[in-house]
Parts: sequence; C-alpha cells; structure tokens
Amino acid sequence: MIRIFEDMEALSLGAVELFVRRAGVAAGERGMFSAALSGGHTPRRTYELLALPPWRDQVPWERTAVFWSDERCVPAKDHRSNSRMAFETLLNHVPISPDRIHPIACDEDPDRGAEGYENLLRTHFSGLLRFDLIFLGLGENGHTASLFPQTTVLREEKRAAAPVRVQGEDFHRVTLTAPAINRAAAVVFLVSGRSKARVLREVIEGPRDTDRLPAQLIRPVEGELLWLVDRAAAAELKDIQDKEE
Ligand code: 6PG
Repeated sequence: MIRIFEDMEALSLGAVELFVRRAGVAAGERGMFSAALSGGHTPRRTYELLALPPWRDQVPWERTAVFWSDERCVPAKDHRSNSRMAFETLLNHVPISPDRIHPIACDEDPDRGAEGYENLLRTHFSGLLRFDLIFLGLGENGHTASLFPQTTVLREEKRAAAPVRVQGEDFHRVTLTAPAINRAAAVVFLVSGRSKARVLREVIEGPRDTDRLPAQLIRPVEGELLWLVDRAAAAELKDIQDKEE
C-alpha cells in the first residue's frame, strides 16, 4: 500500500500516528512493542514529533523496545551514528528505560558487532524474530537499511544481522538482513523529496532487479508493506491503483 502525503511534515505526522497505533496494539496484545528505527534524514522529523505531546504520551514506552535497521560503525558520539540521531531527536526525551534501547554496537569490530546484535535479537524475541514495526528509508541508488547494490549481504539467508562494507565509505556498517526484515509484522518505508522520485518508481513499478535495487528485496512474508511518501517523491509513479491520498 502506498500513501501519498502533501509534504514532509504531513508524511512525518502519518508515520507518527502509525507508530502510536502499532505500539498500542502490540503492547496490548503481546505485552511488548518491538520497533526498529532507521537512520538518514527522512525520519528525523518523525522522531522529533514522537517526542512531543500529544504523541509522546500515547506510546506505552514502558512496554516498548527500540532497535535499529542498520548502523554506521562509528563511535556513538559521531554525527553519522544512527543511534545518536535517534537519541537526540527522540529517545532522550521520552520515558523509555535504557535497558529497552538496543543500539548496534559495532564501531570497534563490525563482525563481532553483527554477531552481538544477532544474539541480542534472538534473546529478545526468544528465537521467533518478528519486529512489530520497522521504519526504512530509500537511498537514491536503491539501497535500504544498509543493503546496498551489488553487495554479498543481499544473498544472506541465515543471519539476521550482517556486516557490510560500502565502496567509498571510510566506515563499516551492520544491517538487518532482508530475511530478518521480511519477518516483521509491518515494514514502513518513509520516502521524501524529488530526488527520490525516479528510484521510487523503479523500485515499485520497475522490473525486479534486486542486485541493483535492494529495496525490492523487502517483501514481508506475513506482514504489511507500507510506503509513506510525499508528493515530490511520488511524482514519477504511474500506477495509481492502490494509492491512497
Ligand atoms: C543509513 C540508513 C539508510 C537511509 C537511506 C535514506 O544509515 O544510511 O539507514 O538506509 O535510510 O540512505 O536516507 P535519507 O533519509 O537521508 O534519504
């Protein structure tokens, strides 16, 4: 399902409302809401709004566990750190217990970081890995989380988390793998801006080419796939069948 919003602010509000709703349902039904946050610029406003009333007070923070879709393996204080961004915009401002926050610690050793994150996930989910909600972004080159074009992690079938090295970057990354993401109850892409219009069309309406467009790997097995996009990002979409404005 694709939902098109007027602009980034409306998109962010839509994402916040979805987070609040999913959190209430999961915490009510299963006693715990497990969410994975993404990095990038797009979700910033969503996190900022979530930290403000009235939304902040609508999330059962004491029954919420926060994870990440991926991390750049840099020190936690580095401005490129995905966890730093989420702490600054959201987690430092809401009543969530620190032991429910699970950043990917990989700045010293990406292999061990990925292993450690995988173990943490197995423990948290008692073997049955299933996020209630995963927020993802879309890169102009078709990547999502840290699933980049033409990388070996795209073929990963067993592991839930894996290290990644992207050409041209001076740091490693650790990412949830596509199979782990696809086990979620809901995967929500947040895509904003004209610069994403072409890749959004290719990912959604183009032929399947997952080596070039890893975001196409995301197809929840028994869950929902939602695209929250703004009008600028949706500019090149042709098929308006299942779009909701
Ligand atoms: C990362 C992200 C990445 C991001 C996209 C979109 O750590 O790099 O998790 O997958 O979501 O690159 O980023 P923007 O929102 O900045 O366009």
